[in-house]
Amino acid sequence: MRVILGVTGCIAAYKSVVILRLLQKSGFEVFPVMTRHAQEFITPLTLEKLSGNKVICGVFDDRSTEIEHIALARRSDLLLMAPATANLIGKMAHGIADDFLSTLYLSTTTPVVLAPAMNVEMWRHPATQNNLQMLRKRGVVIVEPEPGYLACGEEGEGRLAQPESIVQTALEVLRPVKSLLGKKILVTAGPTIEDIDPVRFISNRSSGKMGYAIAHEAAQRGATVTLITGPTYLPAPSGVRVLPVRSAVEMRDAVLSHFADADVVVMAAAVSDFTPVTVEAHKIKKATASSVLQLHPAPDILEEIGKLKQSQFLVGFAAETQNPLENARLKLREKRLDLVVLNDVSQPGVGFQSDYNQITVISPDGECEDLPLLPKHQVAQLLWDRISKRLFAIAPEGARGA
Ligand SMILES: Cc1cc2nc3c(=O)[nH]c(=O)nc-3n(C[C@H](O)[C@H](O)[C@H](O)COP(=O)(O)O)c2cc1C
Repeated sequence: MRVILGVTGCIAAYKSVVILRLLQKSGFEVFPVMTRHAQEFITPLTLEKLSGNKVICGVFDDRSTEIEHIALARRSDLLLMAPATANLIGKMAHGIADDFLSTLYLSTTTPVVLAPAMNVEMWRHPATQNNLQMLRKRGVVIVEPEPGYLACGEEGEGRLAQPESIVQTALEVLRPVKSLLGKKILVTAGPTIEDIDPVRFISNRSSGKMGYAIAHEAAQRGATVTLITGPTYLPAPSGVRVLPVRSAVEMRDAVLSHFADADVVVMAAAVSDFTPVTVEAHKIKKATASSVLQLHPAPDILEEIGKLKQSQFLVGFAAETQNPLENARLKLREKRLDLVVLNDVSQPGVGFQSDYNQITVISPDGECEDLPLLPKHQVAQLLWDRISKRLFAIAPEGARGA
């Protein structure tokens, strides 16, 4: 495992040496990155000699053919900012990339762990707290600072967390706690295909990426996962039992035969609402074809399982283009869901086929949480945090990062 250790300009920068050593003891290879101000507190030479890797300090330091912030982001498994200044936190929250470390943050898709260290008033400042809240929502894991005696002579929160707990958090993020161990989870994904004749069909633009990411994340958390999927071009997620189906009827049958046994059901598939009344055995000829295609409603799987629901935790997806909130809330009530995940697919770059998604999670008690636009694997992590919170009625959020 490769971790980038980002060190910023504060007194606690000297503790990065201990953090680096503990990371190495835990089996990580460490790539240190320092801000210009961090070098006022400790020298790059110390981190370079201890890590055995060059310490990167500036965006334009390296004149080789590689674009270093992109190359390093791709090569690593985790970005750990320890200690992180209020300044860095602000830049991360607002997407400012004016030095190597902040540029690296924007370039990485790995989990990010942040261990802040600062004076108590800087910590309590609404700007810092709002920035941290934005980062938490984005899935950044914050290792909260401790109360205690600070370098500025004051007492209060702001002291860097113990290096042992920072490294422990890094380990948990990369080797996640099996929080769903023993749970049986059923996920649906992808489109359905409603045949008209042997060569033609009705379908939709779903790629299956969101449902596959949800199934993969549940398996990572230790659940026994069955993925019922319409036709997609995606590889099977590791550790997941995949049952391929084609039509809405086939998906309904597969869901019904696994429903009773499931603890959680996440219906992320884009099931066709309509299906042709008849499927022709032979290709319909242009000369004899009617200009009207007769359709009837496809099975409403969510409605059926909503009626059958006993102890299952039921999550539905609502892909909407008009009155999204109103329609999603109606779906939540009518289908007896425990959560509904709203996708406003009219927004550019969101939902079907995209690698990114922006969801709103709505619960029966009226809570409605907008999550930011994120890669789908991170959306899946945040969604499982929300489901787990309700399933276990505890708050595992932050136990695992995005
Ligand atoms: C002696 C000294 C100690 C500092 N300690 C902290 C600190 O603990 N936390 C913090 O957020 N800023 C601290 N600062 C302020 C930062 O160094 C300053 O905001 C700087 O711009 C941060 O740059 P960087 O985030 O690029 O490293 C300190 C400054 C000085 C001079």
